[in-house]
Amino acid sequence: MVNCEVIDFKANKGNNIGYLVAIEGNNQIKFDIKRVYYILETPKSAVRGFHAHRELLQVLICIRGSIAVDCEDINGNIKRYILGDPTQGLFVGKMVWHTMEWLSEDAVLFVLASDFYNEDDYIRQYDKFITLSERRT
Ligand code: TYD
Repeated sequence: MVNCEVIDFKANKGNNIGYLVAIEGNNQIKFDIKRVYYILETPKSAVRGFHAHRELLQVLICIRGSIAVDCEDINGNIKRYILGDPTQGLFVGKMVWHTMEWLSEDAVLFVLASDFYNEDDYIRQYDKFITLSERRT
C-alpha cells in the first residue's frame, strides 16, 4: 500500500446556505498543522509537484474543481487519486514522490503541512528518490 490515505472530513450540511468543513490538527489530521498553502490559477492539464519530502507530512485538499494526484512510495507502490470533493483530504506521507495534474482550470489545491517550508526537505530529482528508496526491485 502506498503511504497515502484518503481522509473524510465532516461537513456541516443540511441547509441551503452552503456548508462548512472544519479541520483540526491532531484530530482529523494526525499531525500539528504548522503551515498552510494553496495553489490556484494553474492551467488545465498542467502538472506540478515532481518531488518527495524526507520528513514533511501533508494533507492535500482540492477545495474547488478537480485534481489528480499520482503517488509513488519508496517500495514502488503507485496509486492515482482523483480529488474533487472538498470534504476529503489526501494524506501524503514522507518519501512519496508525487505529482498533481490540474483536471479543471478552476481547481484550487489547499495544503496542510506538518512543518515550515524547508527546501532541504525536498527531493527534487527522481533518480535521487530511487537511490534513496528501499525498494528491492
Ligand atoms: P513547490 O513545492 O515546488 O510547488 P509545486 O510542487 O506545486 O510545483 O513550490 C513552488 C515554489 O514555491 C518553490 O520555489 C518553493 C516555494 N514555496 C515556498 O516559498 N513556501 C512554501 O510553503 C511552498 C510549498 C513553496
